[in-house]
Amino acid sequence: MTRVLVTAQLPAGGLEPLAGYDIDQRETIDHEQLIDAAARGVDGIVCVLTDRIDRELLERGAPTLRVVANVAVGYDNIDVAAARDLGIAVCNTPGVLDETTADLAFLLVLAARRRASDAEADLRAGRWVGWAVDDHLGHDVHGAVLGLVGFGRIGRAVARRAAGFGMEVVHHTRHDTGIAGWCSTLNELLGRADAVSLHVPLTGETQGLIGAAELATMKPGAVLVNTARGPVVDEEALADALERGVIFGAGLDVYREEPGVHPRLLDAPHVVLLPHIGSATVETRTAMARLAAAGVRAVLDGERPPNLVA
Ligand code: GLV
Repeated sequence: MTRVLVTAQLPAGGLEPLAGYDIDQRETIDHEQLIDAAARGVDGIVCVLTDRIDRELLERGAPTLRVVANVAVGYDNIDVAAARDLGIAVCNTPGVLDETTADLAFLLVLAARRRASDAEADLRAGRWVGWAVDDHLGHDVHGAVLGLVGFGRIGRAVARRAAGFGMEVVHHTRHDTGIAGWCSTLNELLGRADAVSLHVPLTGETQGLIGAAELATMKPGAVLVNTARGPVVDEEALADALERGVIFGAGLDVYREEPGVHPRLLDAPHVVLLPHIGSATVETRTAMARLAAAGVRAVLDGERPPNLVA
């Protein structure tokens, strides 16, 4: 019988596409247990972004393993080259989380520009002693320039929201999009934007994309928003820039060493910190689970799924 390992509890209905298979679904699973489970002979794995699907695991699973599907759009946790070498298909969840993730990115733009987190923290801690003209002053969102680094599905969904808020939108991609607002260099975008939002996958090229030099290029009143992947930003350099007022603030949903958060970011001024909840709605997480499961089903049925990465 076809066996599928599912490494996490998923929203109700998420595994419907796998009906009829023998499903081994875990609450939690560590790396060694994951390798053991793969080595015992499974045909497919539905995994999440905290699972490290490395070459060793794929090699141990390879005699039977035909497909790994990540319940995430990003797949930097999977050694795709190793999967390709071993003839194991990899699927992800593009499309279904664009609007939800864009909502969260825009929430962070608003919250960082308007200092929602430190203002609320002051109120909760009893530090709010009354209305004052100069209390918790942030910066306007309307009329400001939003700079999108990466202009794929999620970046474009953020741009649509920004238009409704009266922002000017610019974007940077390596190749000319032919769309108004394209900046040919990252530095041009960083120098123009009042809010910079990152929408690139984590790859060798984007690791550390925003470091001290890039932060120094940003405007002193600007905020940096990251809903992509933590390692795209040099967190030490970001903490420095915030502490020294090189930039005004930041809105972060992702971190280099999740679930750890750099201690200096916890104390830095004007920072909004969320625990990687970009796609965390019932509707979207259900759709993601179904899409990943459908990818597994398709591969095991000998079809080419639309969400095939490699
Ligand atoms: C979440 O971070 C995802 O990649 O889907």
